[in-house]
Amino acid sequence: MSRIETVAVLGAGTMGHGIAQVSATSGCTVRLYDINEAAVAGGLDRIRGNLDKGIARGKVTQASRDTTLANLSTATSIREAVTGADLVIEAAPESMELKESIFAEVDAAAPAHAILATNTSSLSITQIAAVAKDPARFVGMHFFNPVHIMGLVEVVWGAETSAATRDTAVDFARRLGKEPIVVRDAPGFASSRLGIVLGMEAIRMVEQGVASPEDIDKAMELGYRHPMGPLKLTDLVGLDVRLGIAEYLHQTLGSEAFAPPALLREMVAEGKLGKKSGQGFYSW
Ligand SMILES: NC(=O)c1ccc[n+]([C@@H]2O[C@H](COP(=O)([O-])OP(=O)(O)OC[C@H]3O[C@@H](n4cnc5c(N)ncnc54)[C@H](O)[C@@H]3O)[C@@H](O)[C@H]2O)c1
Repeated sequence: MSRIETVAVLGAGTMGHGIAQVSATSGCTVRLYDINEAAVAGGLDRIRGNLDKGIARGKVTQASRDTTLANLSTATSIREAVTGADLVIEAAPESMELKESIFAEVDAAAPAHAILATNTSSLSITQIAAVAKDPARFVGMHFFNPVHIMGLVEVVWGAETSAATRDTAVDFARRLGKEPIVVRDAPGFASSRLGIVLGMEAIRMVEQGVASPEDIDKAMELGYRHPMGPLKLTDLVGLDVRLGIAEYLHQTLGSEAFAPPALLREMVAEGKLGKKSGQGFYSW
């Protein structure tokens, strides 16, 4: 198992900024990169906002806020971000081609000992790892949204992932104060495979006029004690993100339970992406 001191986070969106924040809070030196410069600035703003809210709620100390921000810096290229990194965590959009191209670049510039991790919600770790020289150092680290609050990390073990890499990822997740679970590389892992079925079926129920989004969510919240209904959760995750995962699971697992409903495709095409765009099944 290797000690992680320097972390590169690639992608500064919904997930990347949170992963950078919790890594910096744990004492690591963190470099945040995004292909979109405005997203990096936006990510840093969100981190400051999360920390300030934490202070107001008595959950974060001023000293921890200052350390977190001091440990964070930004990079203007993948090469700059991953040079000298012990761990690289990618949090770019859910596309196999994109992740493969990012990791080809990472692999050429990262140190030989670096552990390469993807935050993919569903894609094959084994397939992405195939672009790396040493797939034994490749692992899935699936965080949950919002990262600074949610306690779970799925550590996904690809066909070539070594036990040492898996153990380092488990150890790192614990260091971030998270509870890791270890999952074999199967589409959708342990979480998205179940979560997407519920989400797609809830959207089909809206399509069929079974009940309003509010009442479908209430059914799960009050009837099943889910902390949040599947439609609100879809808004929070991003409709585009969930569509990408559903398409992939439909393709790889074959079950119609994963088939994205027409309503989901229409809403994504109209730019109704959920919380991040201001409109989804709810207005934000
Ligand atoms: N949103 C969620 O709730 C959630 C939860 C768990 C896992 N995930 C997974 O995390 C990953 C990121 O999702 P997100 O919701 O943060 O997406 P997002 O759209 O909020 O952010 C993605 C960021 O990646 C950047 N990006 C695009 N191409 C890039 C490149 N070549 N190099 C570096 N950055 C690039 C984009 O500019 C954007 O800022 C996806 O694989 C998703 O499936 C998402």
